[in-house]
Amino acid sequence: MNIIKKEYEDPDFVKHYTEENFNNPKMHDKLEEFAKLLNGNKVIDIGCGPGHDAYKFADLGFEAIGIDFSKEMIKTANSMLDDRKNPKFEVMDMLDIKTNFETNIFDGVWACASVLFIPHESVDLVLEGITSVTKDNGMIYICFKEGENLISTGLRNKYGVEREHKEYLWSEQAIKNKFKKHNFKIVKLWRNFTGKKRGQPTRWMNFYLQK
Ligand SMILES: C[S@@+](CC[C@H](N)C(=O)[O-])C[C@H]1O[C@@H](n2cnc3c(N)ncnc32)[C@H](O)[C@@H]1O
Repeated sequence: MNIIKKEYEDPDFVKHYTEENFNNPKMHDKLEEFAKLLNGNKVIDIGCGPGHDAYKFADLGFEAIGIDFSKEMIKTANSMLDDRKNPKFEVMDMLDIKTNFETNIFDGVWACASVLFIPHESVDLVLEGITSVTKDNGMIYICFKEGENLISTGLRNKYGVEREHKEYLWSEQAIKNKFKKHNFKIVKLWRNFTGKKRGQPTRWMNFYLQK
């Protein structure tokens, strides 16, 4: 099993991640802003984790589906559904969205803190998948960590759970070149900063794109 999948299958880690994110959803203000840009009600949350953002979309009236390649994350997301039919969740690798969904079906694509786990050489496949499933003029939220060292890897300890971790960083120009290649229009770019690693805050680049 690859390092990233192993990390997100760890039941202890998933339990803590779920508690943290359902109690303190960090992106819901932005999600509400993003939701106002959408022209229809179908959204996909790519790398949805335990589903806090997919639940928020559903609560705002959207028909939402969350996909994640971690069975443990999707099991947790489903466990909170009770009698609800919306959102839906599926175990799926984001590299496969093109083959698993019909074309032009989503008004909004939300990919929060997830595509940074895709190796640089495979990001084209994910962007191709997003192009395929998004309606014309549909909107995409996607974010990456900015960095000069292109791969960040090592042992991490969060919530007292030690695990191997790996993520792929991008320069602004390199990721913009990818968006250009896939004909996405950049509607907005903003940065935010979280935590500190080796004395440096983590720099996030957040994008609203339009197909
Ligand atoms: C940092 S969490 C983000 C979860 C949620 N989107 C959020 O913002 O809190 C990253 C998620 O991406 C998922 N993920 C990583 N690589 C993936 C892939 N290739 N396909 C689907 N999900 C993936 C992980 O399982 C994990 O749930």
